[in-house]
Amino acid sequence: MDLSTLLKPTPPRCTSSLVICGGTGDLARRKLIPALARLQAAGALPADLHVVLTGRRPLPREDLIRHLQEGAGATTDPLPRRGLEALYERFHYVPLDPNTPGASGPFAEALQAIEGKGAAPARLFYLAIPPEQIGAFLTVLAPFLARDRQTSCPARLLIEKPFGTDLASARVLHRRLQEVADESQILRIDHYLGKEAVQNILALRFANVMFEPVWNRQFIDHVQISFAETIGVGTRAAYFDRTGILRDVVQNHLLQVLCLTAMEPPLSHRPTCIRIEKKKVLAALRPIAAADTPTQTCRGRYARRQRGDGPPLPGYLEEPGIAPDSTTETYAALRVWIDTWRWSGIPFYLRAGKRLSTSLTEIAIIFKEVPGHIFPPEVATGRTTIAPDVLVIRVQPDEGIHLTVQSKVPGMEFRLAPVDLDFSYQESFATYRPDAYERLLLDALHDDDGLFLQHDEIEAAWAFIDPIREGWAREAPARLEEYEAGTEGPAGAAALLAADHRHWRPLTPRSAGRQPHPGNAP
Ligand code: BG6
Repeated sequence: MDLSTLLKPTPPRCTSSLVICGGTGDLARRKLIPALARLQAAGALPADLHVVLTGRRPLPREDLIRHLQEGAGATTDPLPRRGLEALYERFHYVPLDPNTPGASGPFAEALQAIEGKGAAPARLFYLAIPPEQIGAFLTVLAPFLARDRQTSCPARLLIEKPFGTDLASARVLHRRLQEVADESQILRIDHYLGKEAVQNILALRFANVMFEPVWNRQFIDHVQISFAETIGVGTRAAYFDRTGILRDVVQNHLLQVLCLTAMEPPLSHRPTCIRIEKKKVLAALRPIAAADTPTQTCRGRYARRQRGDGPPLPGYLEEPGIAPDSTTETYAALRVWIDTWRWSGIPFYLRAGKRLSTSLTEIAIIFKEVPGHIFPPEVATGRTTIAPDVLVIRVQPDEGIHLTVQSKVPGMEFRLAPVDLDFSYQESFATYRPDAYERLLLDALHDDDGLFLQHDEIEAAWAFIDPIREGWAREAPARLEEYEAGTEGPAGAAALLAADHRHWRPLTPRSAGRQPHPGNAP
């Protein structure tokens, strides 16, 4: 496979070590190690880069190799394995318990021993750790990040979301980060911004002339942004049970996608210009007051699968590690209004859920119906109105863009039926499509901060989410609606749209969607 799409046109910035704090954790194993292996296979990593994993316990070399192999095995493609074999030499393990007083000193010595003597080290620290450990790690890393240590290549910090658990804690985290590092040293990751199809929203909207004129309240009826996963909480019960899907996925990934979909044209493709427009969208979100959550939101939790053809699926409360009296939601749906001239009166419906029937992420733009059509009712396959055009940006799987329009059904009669105009990444580009973590790791190594978040975006997102959580907390557990695992979610989510005389798009994998439309059957 040609991996040249992983190569950047400019050489990487000086980085002697990529230090992954939480290197034996789930994120490192599932995402970071495979991504590094692929970057290695592509020749995209700096030649002298050391990758240092940290964990609390000592880890013999053979266990480290096993951990790396498991990580590479998390993908079915053999390529990361090949990259990984060449990577073994680069990987090191250093035990680090951040709660041990004076941990920084021995840690610095261990890093120096790996890097050897020579030029001043330039380190990139990746915090792939649970949020509650961030404080302790920042204390350990503070001496490495200190301004008086800064050379032409100061140490930098990569942080995974969640950035706090609400607005207040996000502000506390921000203040602490400012104490230990300069803003220019901090890179905050929302990995959805590294996805090809998410970046393609900008290309679709601003590199084509035909979409922007109709991208507004005059032509669009509403927008649906859906995130669905078939998996449950898996091995992340402890984190998820404290977090819930609203904070895990909606506060970050879905609001970022919403911003890119709804923002005004930026002055240029420069990250600062894009951020300005994203922030305006966040500022224009109409707050959902705590008292309004019953009418503006739906909150659900999956229950044991009772029926269906598939294997039995446990309910959320039966998952290992979930508190028996948990009131955490695994599903959230919201009706969101953006109070701008462009979007006045146009709802954006957001939904996110675990253990649903399908795994997919998509943005669907549902256009208005034609204004009084010229065809008699029977022409529109029996409907009294013509189905609206729908533009779907499929983020995953089967990344692509699909436009459903009306067409004449072949034959002597004049009948209409919806057909799809399809663009599939896989079919159109034979090249390798970088995974989000491949891109973001490489961007960080190149000191390219364009796809990373700034704290004010994060705070604006929390300011929108906090009142919703407050409303839910007042009602819990009364408004925690159960849905059967493996289905499309709670009835309340359907009711949210039904109240507006609308319905959700079915959660259908694209492969199924490529069948002839039912209305097109003879
Ligand atoms: C993470 C969430 O940020 O995103 C997970 O914490 C979720 O709960 C994951 O499963 C989804 O990412 P992706 O790239 O698989 O869509």
